[in-house]
Amino acid sequence: MQVKLTIDKDYTLGGIDERLYGSFIEHLGRAVYTGIFEPGHDTADEQGFRRDIMALIRRLNIPIIRYPGGNFVSGYRWMDGIGPKEARPRRLDYAWASVEPNLFGIDEFADWCKKAGTSAMVAVNLGTGTPQQAADLVEYCNFPGGTYLSDLRIKNGHKDPHSFRVWCLGNEMDGPWQTGAKTADEYGRIACEAAKMMKWVDPTIELVACGSSSAEMPTYPAWDRKVLEHTYDQVDFLSMHRYYGFKGDVTDYLASYADLDAFLSAGIAAADYVKAVKRSKKTMKISLDEWNAWYGTSGPKKEETWTVAPPIHEQTYNLMDALCVGGLLCTMINRSDRVRMACLAQLVNCLAILMTQPGKSAYAQTTYYPFLHASLFGRGEALRPILKAPKVETARGEADAVTAAVTFNEEQGELTVFALNLAQEDTVLQLSARSFAALSPIEHIVLDGDLFAENTFDQPENVLPRRAPVAPLEKGVGCVTLPRLSWNVLRYKI
Ligand code: AHR
Repeated sequence: MQVKLTIDKDYTLGGIDERLYGSFIEHLGRAVYTGIFEPGHDTADEQGFRRDIMALIRRLNIPIIRYPGGNFVSGYRWMDGIGPKEARPRRLDYAWASVEPNLFGIDEFADWCKKAGTSAMVAVNLGTGTPQQAADLVEYCNFPGGTYLSDLRIKNGHKDPHSFRVWCLGNEMDGPWQTGAKTADEYGRIACEAAKMMKWVDPTIELVACGSSSAEMPTYPAWDRKVLEHTYDQVDFLSMHRYYGFKGDVTDYLASYADLDAFLSAGIAAADYVKAVKRSKKTMKISLDEWNAWYGTSGPKKEETWTVAPPIHEQTYNLMDALCVGGLLCTMINRSDRVRMACLAQLVNCLAILMTQPGKSAYAQTTYYPFLHASLFGRGEALRPILKAPKVETARGEADAVTAAVTFNEEQGELTVFALNLAQEDTVLQLSARSFAALSPIEHIVLDGDLFAENTFDQPENVLPRRAPVAPLEKGVGCVTLPRLSWNVLRYKI
């Protein structure tokens, strides 16, 4: 099979916001406790942060991490998680039928982010919480000092404000599973009032309004329109969430990238409709702040409900999942003109790219690698990939047998082509990039092999990317073989 990919320096989709490569840590299962925080672990620092997982996270160069939920946030009282630890209450967490010990809160997360070389996207509770509590949290975190709440932060050991820039107005508020779920009008009103108050406290913050929690919701996509009718002038982003699962057909699963494209188009259309109705000059940005492969996991075992940090949604990912994730990343780069932020859900132990064992080791799942590649090499400008590829039949209609995304990092002098080959045969990619007269290959990274192979604690490096030989290009033109069912990263020096 052959596919042709034409790219040109001038066919640009614009600069990628580096926050496209964000992730997510929720108080869920073992993401925080025995995930990133485990006092007493061999590698724990003086604050109880595991250094082994920190090193794996730092390697990813993640610009932003969403916290503390997720479903958890809709019942969370943020003041429980500040101040002397011995005085912090243990609470029931309805979202995950667990006990929250509150030994890790917003101040610890701020410290952890600094050490991990990242920043926070903080979600406020608009399930059981009020606009006042949301604005109070902004004051506690971002106000320099001289008020009760900002001085309380200083008393708790943080003289400088945390200066968190991005804030989510609740989480999946349309979902019946959500503590304090709301109708679009109920949520739209409370989100609008919370947004006003939070921006009065700190006008520099950026706000994200909840869109539908999934395309399967009966209220989708009218929910998105209604919410934006209430909040358009106050917010900067519409949140969208999308997960994909393997249901028995490899091609259908790997073509999830095409479904994500259609899903994003619907959210963008809803936002642009409201823009027109409001005669607004502002274009709403999309925050895809939960996305991943997710299937076959479960909540806490019956005997483990109402315990601290039971294992929940600990999915082991295989190579096929990593390929699916690679395809989704291509779509995100290709839609990065509107998708300005995104969070791979999640980072540690729960639906995660990284796993830990309490008291023991940590390892990277298969899905870690495409995310690593995109985060490291997918910066700069996105170029429009003009792709001519045979079609494959999927449950959701036709899709290209190869999907690709291209990034041009002028500062580094690098061009990167990301490509997922979902065909069952090796494919010759004819690359034409004539506007880059001199391109010399740096490397061709490939992830392929047994679709069901996994990394585990016993075999943490069972699935690893490999290097394939790279042929030179003649005046920007040449051929590269994409192995059957493979994720590929082609890197060129300009
Ligand atoms: O990421 C796991 C959960 O999925 C989140 O808590 C929730 O927002 C979504 O339904």
